Amino acid sequence: MCGIVGYIGKANAASILISGLKRLEYRGYDSAGMALLDDERILITKSTGKVSNLSEKARTNWSPELFQRATTGIAHTRWATHGPPTEANAHPHLDQSGEIALVHNGIVENYRALRSRLEGKGHHFYSETDTEVLAHLIGDCDKGDLFQAVCDALHQVEGTFGIAVLSSREPDRIIAARRGSPIVIGVGDGEAIIASDASAILAHTQRVMYLDDNDIANVTMDSVEIRDLNNVPVTREIAELGLDASATEKGGFAHFMLKEIHEQPEALTNAIRGRLDLQLGSSVLAGMGTSQRELAELSRVVMVGCGTSLHAAMVGEYAFEDIADINAEVQQAAEFRYRNPILGNRDFVIAISQSGETADTLAAVKEANQKGAFVMSLVNVVGSTIARETGRGVYLHAGPEISVASTKAFTCQVSVLLMMALKLGRGRRYSREEGMKLAREIESIPELVARVIGKNDLIADIAEGYTKDEHAFYIGRGPMYPVALEGALKLKEISYIHAEGYHAAELKHGPIALLQEGTPVIAVACDVPGKDKTLGNIEECRARGARILGIITEGDDEAAEVMDEFISIPRTHPLVATIPAVVALQIFSYHVARLRGCEIDQPRNLAKSVTVE
Ligand code: G6P
Repeated sequence: MCGIVGYIGKANAASILISGLKRLEYRGYDSAGMALLDDERILITKSTGKVSNLSEKARTNWSPELFQRATTGIAHTRWATHGPPTEANAHPHLDQSGEIALVHNGIVENYRALRSRLEGKGHHFYSETDTEVLAHLIGDCDKGDLFQAVCDALHQVEGTFGIAVLSSREPDRIIAARRGSPIVIGVGDGEAIIASDASAILAHTQRVMYLDDNDIANVTMDSVEIRDLNNVPVTREIAELGLDASATEKGGFAHFMLKEIHEQPEALTNAIRGRLDLQLGSSVLAGMGTSQRELAELSRVVMVGCGTSLHAAMVGEYAFEDIADINAEVQQAAEFRYRNPILGNRDFVIAISQSGETADTLAAVKEANQKGAFVMSLVNVVGSTIARETGRGVYLHAGPEISVASTKAFTCQVSVLLMMALKLGRGRRYSREEGMKLAREIESIPELVARVIGKNDLIADIAEGYTKDEHAFYIGRGPMYPVALEGALKLKEISYIHAEGYHAAELKHGPIALLQEGTPVIAVACDVPGKDKTLGNIEECRARGARILGIITEGDDEAAEVMDEFISIPRTHPLVATIPAVVALQIFSYHVARLRGCEIDQPRNLAKSVTVE
């Protein structure tokens, strides 16, 4: 969603801000803006649409000399929440005096009350945003010390924020703060760069400081001083990012999504490396921070997540019940805290999130912590809010995922969930022999996925036959049911074809009414328990004229026979098979979207990381 970049140093701020915003484009946004400090004035340019529009407009609005000489500024990409994506609503927003500029991620929940109070004091607002209210509030609190003014204003704010504030009255600093919305500060040599996401910092420095909730930072070109909102100094360590800038570049692929699909064998190798114990038929997941004995005492696994991560959780549900012999359930993170879940200290809550920033998943974590459950996270982004909030957890090590449509994060999530289930299972009834067999299958996942990626051209040819469709149905059962859901999600996200996933048996309870001659049904019918029933469901669809594309197991002639066309995946353990099956569907969606000319990496209306509820 929204992105923040701020720069203070000796270099050309405008170029650094624009290239930082470009690196944040993947998060999803619909307008952008930038404020530069020049000669003790704040100058702002905003535009709707892409960062490239902003860049062009800034070069028209501002002289080349100004563009070159300004060395301090803040910038933002906005994903509209309060008011449509217009220039007036885009950030940065100014306070009443026009001397303080603010960029903000998050939501000021009490902005209406604050706005009417400020209007009562004579403030005028030009936008519909909560952010403009916060800018005015800071201005209203400013009695000559910007840092103190931001502290005082934030004390009055209910809601979430990641902010960067600039004042022409104090040109040697940028104030940054966070509550519930990440801020990272890159500490360079005579310069600092503030961002909502480390990818905007990578090109400048590897040395970063992460703000914690309610931290406020005074950032100058030579120093970063952090205090809490009561103005008491706090110490935050400098961490090394350990990421190469090339990890956030396309590296010769037409799209990030294609690159990330192809990266899966490597990402999966990283996710699995050192985590399997082939001798004991178990796994070693130190981040879980618990002994086999404690694990044996757990009575239930509850997984929470959103979107693709929710689908990974659904595969995990089958894995925990089947392998670990423990009650497992999945709850949509958005619903979790509102249903007042029944949780205790024998419940094992796993928060699953690629970004580690999804607001609903974070809220679920807080609720589970509150109720005394045993909470851990399964997150990709190191140092992200959910990872920090849970304290214990397992990182995916999938590397940065830039494409909005998640691919490698899903397959790594499922792989780690399988390893978690194995660890729990070995403390229960899963035998060493079974464990050794499964561990070997898990070890082979990167190779299985590489074989499916090897079918890219074949899948691209098949995809050509689906570019004119406006509807598609995906079906599966058992662990292939969440795979069907994920396949449908991938297709609708990036190709804008209306695609729905159903349990194969559920189709005849309503959706089958929509089948007509030629309607595509994508059947995930791998050779796993329940396949015969799925083949029966496929016949029901065929009898109504549907066109069937099957995902089947290599060498399964019986399944091949009922399909109009098929993509085959290697034979493996039924739970492991979910991974190559989903990869086939990722590649299929990618090519359908490509052939339809869609903007694959940043689909309309979508955001990579959804930081609002
Ligand atoms: C957004 C993204 C999805 C993602 C979901 C959950 O909707 O577009 O791709 O699956 O958020 O994100 P998370 O980072 O928590 O896995």
